[in-house]
Amino acid sequence: MVTKGILLVGGKGTRLAPLTNSTPKPMLRVAGKPVTEHQIVKARNSGIKELVLATSYLAEVFEPYFGDGSRFGISITYAVEEVPLGTGGAIANAASKLNLSDDDSVIIFNGDVLSGHNLSDQIAFHEKTCSDVTLYLTQVQDSRAYGCVPINQEGRVQSFLEKMDNPIADTINAGCYIFRNRALKQIPNGQIVSVERDTFPKLLSDGFDLFGFLDNDYWIDMGTPHSFIKASKDLILKPELSAATSGVANGCLIGSNAKIHPSAHVGEGSTIEDGVLIHEGCTISGSMISASANVGAGSEIRDSYIASGQVIPPGSKLIDEIIGE
Ligand code: GTP
Repeated sequence: MVTKGILLVGGKGTRLAPLTNSTPKPMLRVAGKPVTEHQIVKARNSGIKELVLATSYLAEVFEPYFGDGSRFGISITYAVEEVPLGTGGAIANAASKLNLSDDDSVIIFNGDVLSGHNLSDQIAFHEKTCSDVTLYLTQVQDSRAYGCVPINQEGRVQSFLEKMDNPIADTINAGCYIFRNRALKQIPNGQIVSVERDTFPKLLSDGFDLFGFLDNDYWIDMGTPHSFIKASKDLILKPELSAATSGVANGCLIGSNAKIHPSAHVGEGSTIEDGVLIHEGCTISGSMISASANVGAGSEIRDSYIASGQVIPPGSKLIDEIIGE
């Protein structure tokens, strides 16, 4: 049984700047809740009872929100890196807070991935194969932007390939791993280590058993502005993707004090936060309008993010834009 996990939430999120200047990427809200909250609820619903949040950048914002986890029916503790240790270093540091026996396994989540993949099936696959590491993989049409992880018929990992122009596989690392403690112990403590570039290739060449669990359900890495806005829209339009999503009505999330003119059309997975004013004749689709923003009459906003308190002049047309912060 896998009941312990680590959430990697300490990265700087540079590709999402300026949204991440004051809010760490995992605390950005998608479908009205921090990304981390969607992940915590998913982990809990798959039998995880104890989670360590591996924090570094803006570490202080997590504990006031998640506390000891009791609100979510799970135990949450925090491992803070004074200097970011990279994904592998963060895992080793957080694992030292878990009381692990040799045969224990730990599930590790990248803090910026949302997926519909079946975590219980990934855990069952890990147990069936008795592998040292089980990586969740997904297939993408164009794998050039990703590191590829080819597997054989039984699921055994063959290699870890860097990004390349003509990839030889379409199965990519989807950012959720199960590590047996004996594999975890191979990551040096207190050093900067990348789990993707250093740990996985080294474990493979050292003869550890690594398996890929392939699941092609919904998957998104919300590391860029476009994918962040899309993730929120997708979760609102498919609330079954996350048990943490609540309050969706007519394909949107509308804050209690938002005022939307009756002639305005708001749809397609949009979030309209508290205190927002949407004036007459506006069309808002697939967009996130943050608290107290004011959208002038006749504006069209599609697949965009408007930061808190922004004033959008009447007649604006915004498509795929980030405004403010
Ligand atoms: P970019 O700067 O835009 O690449 O984003 P990022 O800093 O989040 O890096 P990346 O997307 O590669 O990180 C994948 C996951 O690991 C994210 O959830 C990060 O929060 C987390 N992460 C990355 N580096 C560190 C680190 O040094 N320490 C900790 N604790 N987490 C990290």
